[in-house]
Amino acid sequence: MSSFLSFPAISPLPSASSGASFRHRSLSPRLFKPCVKCSYAEAAPIDIVADVRSERVVVLGGNGFVGSAICKEAISKGIEVVSVSRSGRPSLQDSWLDQVTWVTGDVFYLNWDEVLLGATAVVSTIGGFGNEEQMKRINGEANVIAVNAAKDFGVPKFVLITVHDYNLPPFVLSSGYFTGKRSAEAELLSKYPNSGVVLRPGFIYGKRKVNGFEVPLDLVGEPLDKIYDAAERFIRPLRSLPASDLILAPPVKVDDLALAVINALKDDDIFGIFTIEQIKEAAAKMRALSY
Ligand SMILES: NC(=O)c1ccc[n+]([C@@H]2O[C@H](COP(=O)([O-])OP(=O)(O)OC[C@H]3O[C@@H](n4cnc5c(N)ncnc54)[C@H](OP(=O)(O)O)[C@@H]3O)[C@@H](O)[C@H]2O)c1
Repeated sequence: MSSFLSFPAISPLPSASSGASFRHRSLSPRLFKPCVKCSYAEAAPIDIVADVRSERVVVLGGNGFVGSAICKEAISKGIEVVSVSRSGRPSLQDSWLDQVTWVTGDVFYLNWDEVLLGATAVVSTIGGFGNEEQMKRINGEANVIAVNAAKDFGVPKFVLITVHDYNLPPFVLSSGYFTGKRSAEAELLSKYPNSGVVLRPGFIYGKRKVNGFEVPLDLVGEPLDKIYDAAERFIRPLRSLPASDLILAPPVKVDDLALAVINALKDDDIFGIFTIEQIKEAAAKMRALSY
């Protein structure tokens, strides 16, 4: 387990049921307002105040399947990105990779002061499987540590990727995977009641890189997504049946999840828990804004 940082050389959509919320947009302390004074020979001086937002997001797990989609999308939106993971920069060739600051570090041993310097938001994609203890630790404790580090440092926004509960029975939801995820959510929402965002996707599809090979999860995910979209009216009533969501919860495209994260980063008034449907709505909203 690597334990210390090494920097490279250069370096919703709201719903009462889910708890996701919007407020009317207000001026954020994060807005940087340079004031320029112009004066002309005979005119009175005028003050020009420009809204220039300087954003720096720290993505925990930025080299993972979801994390790299988030880093890529953030870079394309002009956001400065720092990724933290134990294995550091992925061994791929793509121009956006050069624009990310890749920090090699383990969240359990991180020098947070160095990583969070200047951060306007933290996004955590950290999570995974293993035995009960490992799942509690990586899905729960790792994220609880990150939330508290960000809060203590004064980072104003935190976005956490967790998971949909698939209508599973309580004995399954009491596994280390789900209890870890829910304890991290509870910590986030208590420390960031007005700006913490939890995204709960189900199956995520896209091109996952494993040991240099591409696993095209979209070959399954994309057609499924289309079928769910078309049959949504018939499927929705069945989704109240126990565990039915294991089959019926719509998959989420990894790029859509990344867009939902950007939506949460760009809008100070978004906070709370976002369901699969709300993730898709947020992505659609971001897509519409880009055209
Ligand atoms: N994939 C899905 O279908 C799916 C569905 C629902 C929810 N989710 C959730 O979405 C999140 C992202 O999933 P994913 O598929 O992108 O997982 P992933 O590819 O395994 O990414 C996990 C990332 O976390 C990093 N990481 C793990 N332990 C760390 C530690 N101690 N310190 C620093 N970094 C650490 C990993 O990098 P290193 O190993 O290099 O440290 C990796 O970058 C997870 O929380 C997962 O539970 C995934």
